[in-house]
Formats: sequence, C-alpha cells, structure tokens
Amino acid sequence: MAVRTVLKMGNPKLLQVAKPVKMFATPELDALVEDLMDTMQAEDGAGLAAPQIGVGIRVVVFGFESNIRYPEAAPVPQTVLVNPLIEPLSDEREAAWEGCLSVPGLRGVVPRYTHIRYRGFDQFGVAIEREAHDFHARVVQHECDHLDGILYPQRMTDMRLFGFTEVLEGLAGGS
Ligand code: NI
Repeated sequence: MAVRTVLKMGNPKLLQVAKPVKMFATPELDALVEDLMDTMQAEDGAGLAAPQIGVGIRVVVFGFESNIRYPEAAPVPQTVLVNPLIEPLSDEREAAWEGCLSVPGLRGVVPRYTHIRYRGFDQFGVAIEREAHDFHARVVQHECDHLDGILYPQRMTDMRLFGFTEVLEGLAGGS
C-alpha cells in the first residue's frame, strides 16, 4: 500500500496510550497492517507500532529473517499482533542495545525480560499465543511499549549507555 512517515521522539502522539481494536477483518485494519509492514520493511525495522505512524490503536507488527540493524539477532516470525498482552515467565532480565525508528541515529542499553508469553489477535481476529525468548521477547516488549506511549529511553537505567549509532559502531564492542 504505502510507506508512511515514522513520527520522531518529541511528537506528542508517541506519548499517548493507544485504544483497543474493536472490529477485526475490516478494510481499514487491513490497510493499516499493510502500511505498517511496508514502512517497517522500507526502514529496515525489526518492528513497528501503529502510533509510530500516527494511528492511536493497539496494533504492532514485527519479524524478519535477518535484519541489518540487528545482524546478530535470530529470525523472528513475521507477525501482526492486535490488542497484545505480555506476561513475563521469569524475573530474569537482560540489558542489551536497542534502537527505534522513532529515535533515529541513536542506540541505548535497555533491560528487558528474557522469557515472556504474549497473546493477542491477528488482523482477522484469530487468536495468537506464543512464548518468546531473548531478542524475540525484546522486540515484542519494545513494540508493545509504544502502545502505552513508552519509548525505550524511558526504560533505560544507565544513561551513559546511550549514544549515536555511528559513534558506538566505531568503538570496540559497540553495536
Ligand atoms: Ni520503537
């Protein structure tokens, strides 16, 4: 359908709590999902949430075979997730580098649960329930945070581990 403009941090729409989807399998929802997928792929994103293109409803997309922004990440299934719920399955968290299409050019270290269960629906209303670990779990937590108006810098615990990608990549061990 169309590659849409991704809103950048500072836009108040990124700080709003998105509304649940009530009607599935509608032309409007189909068109939104296509735009999210097209935009995510055009920007090499690992995921994208509807509020990032200015649509305040609880829809995220994520997934890739391989991703240039996260070259070491294992594949994540291509997924449309509507009205998601996340449940941590252990207290274990891992701190790792993360970026966001709404925070371009920057990376930060963010603690996330390493093992979660997530539930929701696809755009047709078919239930989805999965367990996820590691990067897959990280992506889901990151994208679902967008639905609550949370950007990853708000989850950071050490602001020294925040910087420009081009600088970090020039340092040993930066990524
Ligand atoms: Ni993001």
